[in-house]
Amino acid sequence: MNFALNEEQQAVQQAARDFAQNILKPGVIGRDRDQKYPADEVRQMGEMGFLGMMVSPEYGGGGMDTVSYVLAMEELSKVDASCSVIVSVNNSLVCWGLETFGTEEQKQKYLPKLATGEWIGSFCLSEPEAGSDATHQRTTAVDMGDHYLLNGTKNWITNGGTSKLHLVMAQTDKEKRHRGINCLIVEADQEGVTIGAKEDKLGIRGSDTHTIMYSDVKVPKTNRIGDEGFGFKFAMATLNGGRIGIAAQALGIAGGAFELSVTYAKEREAFGQPIAQHQAIAFKLADMAKDIEAAKMLVYRAAWMKDQHMDYSGASAMAKLFASEAAMKHTVEAVQIHGGYGYVKEYHVERLMRDAKITQIYEGTSEVQRIVISRNVLKGQLYVPMWADGVLAH
Ligand code: CAA
Repeated sequence: MNFALNEEQQAVQQAARDFAQNILKPGVIGRDRDQKYPADEVRQMGEMGFLGMMVSPEYGGGGMDTVSYVLAMEELSKVDASCSVIVSVNNSLVCWGLETFGTEEQKQKYLPKLATGEWIGSFCLSEPEAGSDATHQRTTAVDMGDHYLLNGTKNWITNGGTSKLHLVMAQTDKEKRHRGINCLIVEADQEGVTIGAKEDKLGIRGSDTHTIMYSDVKVPKTNRIGDEGFGFKFAMATLNGGRIGIAAQALGIAGGAFELSVTYAKEREAFGQPIAQHQAIAFKLADMAKDIEAAKMLVYRAAWMKDQHMDYSGASAMAKLFASEAAMKHTVEAVQIHGGYGYVKEYHVERLMRDAKITQIYEGTSEVQRIVISRNVLKGQLYVPMWADGVLAH
């Protein structure tokens, strides 16, 4: 068992850390306050290669492994989770999905633009009445021979106002239930696509979240990903990887709050000594460190399993569940450690606390992760071998 990062992974980690500190940090409080989309920062992330990290070089990407990607996600998220969600959706849901399941023509047409950040993509699964219950898609894609006619509404779409490409899940054959769902590539400027109002959110306020309406949008059949009826499988397979990215985001948010808390606790004095010397604070730091290390192991392991082409659906769900719960718990503690300073924007931890909440909700709520994990447990499909009868079975 080897826990060491290789040279390339360390270089990516350092580059993301420097970028987050030097480029993202200066404006992060203002972007959160004003709900300002980080257009300039996204352009620079594209130039740095953060938007197509795992895409093959032949399609304009960095050709990196998933471990490098999560290291970058973690460092960016320590400072600005609004920027890191853009990185996550573009890399793991859009580019990875297209490269893994798209046709050669689709890949050549779209991946070079997406991998460089010239275009940003969106993943359109959630609907007003289909969030966790994703098999119940109301959006329809009626088969018209050479094209589909797309109608419906998608909700809470990350990058909704800025993306040029949407991957849209829609029901074609209701009788077949989730096996009648297709994933269609829709260009945002196609006739019949309407971008709704921007959501006014609790956290990740710099990211651009919208409702999107599709009204009689003609989508050529060549824009379908995979075989007829593959759309739900596509969404699930893609989300298995996406959840590793969000787990890394949660890990980064927790890590950012932890780093700030350690520094503050060493500097701030109360009752004649730095508050870090008081057991009440030192024990909070110990609990944070313990959970962040455990989250790190789960997140890196899930990424490594994906790189080894193992079944990682249970591992990614565990990583997301554990890291997002840790992020929520410990960002609240970070605010507590900072006291009154923690409650104001200047000290960053209140934003990290608000940002942490979404990691328990998007790309599958904590409850959905428990569904995925428990089904893996019951099928005996966990990475750690389980003896079917248990060691103490009669
Ligand atoms: N990996 C692979 N396949 C999976 C899977 C997984 N994690 N989860 C389900 N499937 C497969 C099942 O094996 C089944 O396949 P068959 O047709 O071969 O039987 C099929 O999908 C249907 O699954 P279930 O019978 O288990 O369906 P269900 O309704 O009982 O439960 C669910 C499905 C796991 C709850 C699923 O609906 C789900 O994951 N929901 C959450 C959706 C979600 O994560 N949304 C996030 C929106 S995207 C987003 O947030 C992006 C953003 O902008 C940040």
